[in-house]
Order: sequence, then structure tokens, then C-alpha cells
Amino acid sequence: MTEADTRKTIVLTGASRGIGHATVKRFSREGWRVITCSRQDFAENCPWPAGPEDHIKVDLADPEDVGRAVAEIRHRLLDQGGKLHALVNNAGISPKLKDGSRMNSLDTPMHVWRDVFQVNFFAPIMLARGLFKELVAAQGSIVNVTSIAGTRVHPFAGTSYATSKAALGSLTREMAHDFGPHGIRVNAIAPGEIDTAILSPGTDKIVETIPLRRLGATSEVADIIYFLCSGQASYVTGSEIHINGGQHV
Ligand SMILES: NC(=O)c1ccc[n+]([C@@H]2O[C@H](COP(=O)([O-])OP(=O)(O)OC[C@H]3O[C@@H](n4cnc5c(N)ncnc54)[C@H](OP(=O)(O)O)[C@@H]3O)[C@@H](O)[C@H]2O)c1
Repeated sequence: MTEADTRKTIVLTGASRGIGHATVKRFSREGWRVITCSRQDFAENCPWPAGPEDHIKVDLADPEDVGRAVAEIRHRLLDQGGKLHALVNNAGISPKLKDGSRMNSLDTPMHVWRDVFQVNFFAPIMLARGLFKELVAAQGSIVNVTSIAGTRVHPFAGTSYATSKAALGSLTREMAHDFGPHGIRVNAIAPGEIDTAILSPGTDKIVETIPLRRLGATSEVADIIYFLCSGQASYVTGSEIHINGGQHV
């Protein structure tokens, strides 16, 4: 057997920047094969081995494209004996008004609401169901990336984003119940204010009052995702870990 046949494999959405980028680096460092998915082609100066070959260009806002990507991922996993050890549903969108302010429940257009739910909520369950056999074969695990906005009104995150993340948190519980008997663990992580492009101007002000008095780093989120996908979390399922410096205490 070649080395490529024995590596553990993770499929991660939204790897091109932010939390996803740090997560790919964390898993690559541990020797995992990382199959990434996002809308853009991979940067030529990709910082991890085999990045461009293991990248799948997909628009998660388009259900048909998600179906095509699932077929492509399953095909690529044949190299690994059809086994998938982890699926991390990280890609997410958080639309704002033109001036950067919050889109509330009175003025969010329905097409925005539908796009947000397709990317943040439907794509994760489509991928999990589409890759179910491969996850069973590896006795793998799933991590859904929710948000602090899923459980309380946030000054910048809009209603469609918040409700999609609340739904994803609830889906995590349902999936843990349904996937568990097949040997698959399903957990969520709920980041607070993490230093990425998704943040709005003014977030520095919010963190001045939280217990840890700072933004979180993407590597601090990647560490928890890695822990949940590792053998160290082998009896953890149906949980949602809050990574927010104590913001909601
Ligand atoms: N940063 C925070 O403070 C924070 C807080 C709470 C929750 N979160 C959650 O954490 C996750 C990652 O956040 P982040 O801050 O790292 O976000 P980010 O920097 O905005 O990155 C989002 C990622 O999702 C991908 N993506 C967006 N739309 C897509 C689509 N239609 N199809 C495929 N890929 C798509 C993007 O890649 P392309 O542009 O190449 O498609 C990108 O890689 C999200 O689910 C977010 O809601 C973040």
C-alpha cells in the first residue's frame, strides 16, 4: 500500500480563507489528506501539499452543484478505500446591508434568506447524507460550524444568518441521534468573534467587554475542530462547543 492509501481524510467546505484555512493547515500538519471545497479555484501558492489537486470548486448556494460535488468527492475517496474520517461543514455566508449594517427580519429579501439557508443549512445535510457510506466505512465524525449568533441577537449578524445557524445547531442534535447508531459522531462548534474577513467594523469594541478581552484566532478554532475529529473525543457527540472568550457568560 502507498502512503496515500493509509492517510486519514477530511472533507472541509470553505477552505480558502479564515477558519477553514487554519483548519486545513491543522489537519495537514497531522498528516491528514484534506479535500477542500469552495467557489474559487485554489491559489497557486497553496501552503499545504496537494492543495490544488484535492480542491473541488463548488457553489454551495446551488443545490445541483452540491450534488455534482458529492459525486466527485465520492469518486476521489476511492483512492482511500472509500473511507471518509471527517466532514467539516465550515463554509458560511452572512450578508449585510450596503452600509454594513444588520439585515433584520422585516427587511431581509426572501432570495437572500433562501441563499443563506442553502449555504449555511441545506448544504451541510446534503453533504452529510451524500457521504454517509464513506463516513460509516471510516467510523468518522462530522463538525458543523454554527455561531454565537444562533442563540442571541447580534449587533451585526443578520436574521437569516442567525436563524440558519440556530437551525444548524438543532440539526447537529438530530444528526447525532440518527448517525450515532452507525458509528458516526456529530458535533458543532459555535465561534464568537474570530479574527477573519466575516467580521464587521466595530467588532473590536464588542471584545473590549468580554471576559478574555480579545478576538479569537482562527488557529484556536481549528484546534477544537481537530480535537472533535480525533480519537480524544471518541465519546463526544451531539455537543456544541462555544469558542468565544466567555462572550455569553
Ligand atoms: N469569523 C467569525 O468570527 C465567525 C463567528 C461565528 C461563526 N463563524 C462561522 O465560521 C465559518 C467560517 O467563517 P469565516 O469567518 O472563516 O468566513 P470567511 O472568512 O468569510 O470564509 C468563508 C468561506 O466559505 C466559503 N464560501 C462562501 N460561500 C460559499 C459558497 N456559496 N460555496 C462554497 N463556498 C463558499 C468561502 O470560499 P469562496 O469565497 O472561495 O467560496 C470561504 O472559504 C462560517 O460558517 C461562519 O458563519 C465565523
